[in-house]
Amino acid sequence: MTHRHLARGERIVIATHNAGKLREVAALLAPYGIETVSAGELGLPEPEETEESFLGNAAIKARAAARAAGLPALADDSGFSVAALAGAPGVRTADWAMQPDGSRDYGDAMRKVMEAAQEFEDRTAWFSCALALAWPDGHEEGFEGRAMGHWVWPPRGTHGFGYDPMFVPDGGAATFGEMDPAEKHRISHRAAAFALLSAACLLGTTG
Ligand code: IMP
Repeated sequence: MTHRHLARGERIVIATHNAGKLREVAALLAPYGIETVSAGELGLPEPEETEESFLGNAAIKARAAARAAGLPALADDSGFSVAALAGAPGVRTADWAMQPDGSRDYGDAMRKVMEAAQEFEDRTAWFSCALALAWPDGHEEGFEGRAMGHWVWPPRGTHGFGYDPMFVPDGGAATFGEMDPAEKHRISHRAAAFALLSAACLLGTTG
């Protein structure tokens, strides 16, 4: 398969309105000389995430931003999955944290996952991250990374965010919430997806 490369110095839209994600993605792209502008800065609308897969939802966001901005666009979609729950919360990961007042509470979200999954012996769980790149001419690239492990209760650790305190990645005993952030970033689903993207669309862009 032929992948399309991003050129050094090229400007792309990061299709997120989340300042934290923008910072992380801009930092990952900086060594390749890729300049970034956010969908928020350009005042682009946020499309509805109507697909049932991470890649599908990442593509919706990337496609909408590329069309509206006339620039290549990169979007991510991520979430937490439990094997015994057939992959739930999955693409609904953020929704499970939603409170009646519109705020998000991840302590509550983790408790919901534990309550739904505790009757099953299989504790297998994973994080997924999909990255989609879309160009204004319709070309698209998509990459998905996973971090495999199991869920634990009670949650442990104060690092990270979201469901990190209830997830122990394979190969160790610490939760993502207990890990040094640099260690998490080395083995995370986001790192795995970005490694695939950089191998396909960025390598050769340095120098
Ligand atoms: P998105 O912003 O629609 O992609 O939603 C991602 C959801 O997955 C949010 O609820 C996050 O808290 C959760 N999530 C994604 N990545 C991680 C992670 O690395 N650690 C903990 N939670 C995560």
